[in-house]
Amino acid sequence: MSEMPLVLIAPSLLSADFANFAQAARQAAEAGAEFLHFDVMDGVFVPNITFGPQTVRALRHHSDAIFDVHLMIVQPERYIEEFAQAGADIITVHAEASTHLQRTLARIRECGARAGVSLNPATPLNAIEYVLPDIDLLLIMTVNPGFGGQEFIPEMLRKIARARAMLDEAGSDAWLEVDGGINGATTPLVVRAGARVLVAGSAVFGHPDGVRAGVEELRQAVWEAQERV
Ligand code: DX5
Ligand code: ZN
Repeated sequence: MSEMPLVLIAPSLLSADFANFAQAARQAAEAGAEFLHFDVMDGVFVPNITFGPQTVRALRHHSDAIFDVHLMIVQPERYIEEFAQAGADIITVHAEASTHLQRTLARIRECGARAGVSLNPATPLNAIEYVLPDIDLLLIMTVNPGFGGQEFIPEMLRKIARARAMLDEAGSDAWLEVDGGINGATTPLVVRAGARVLVAGSAVFGHPDGVRAGVEELRQAVWEAQERV
């Protein structure tokens, strides 16, 4: 088992109580989640609106988790510095939202954060083929972004597997992250396809038995997937 790749859990605040993010961050950390995932939405790139850098900054005082900031906003380059200064450890932009993607990714690293790029379900992998050296994380959306609680799109399994092969062939050690519809049932599928970071909103913060049970259920599913390899 020791050679099994590490799979990390990234609970998404989108499904937490918006009146009590500090408690949600604490519960996620106590349950052993390594990342805390922030879904930043502008009402333009996606239909929904959530929060901005002030929220990241405020929570920085409450958590030592890796702050994984997923920008679902147009022209994300306008806000990179602000999110980095607010305490984001990883800043992920959408390839569809940034015209000069390579420059945007380089800027994230210049600001001291790790650079992530995300692809909507319909966006082909070749959109990022030439920026692989510039990324620390590749986020494959497994739903169309905008809302929590949507169903996993099964066709994305093929995309995750191809992304895994693409990163491995390039010798990249970027994290391969998946986001949307991740739960106890889909976790074994995405882990076997090569995902290494699992974003989960409703499966963690909406778990009927609480946050700890939600994280543990995902861990158990990871473990079972790896046992059966
Ligand atoms: C979707 C967001 C996700 C969302 C996932 O736009 O990027 O991070 O919180 O929610 P679940 O896990 O409920 O599908
Ligand atoms: Zn997200």
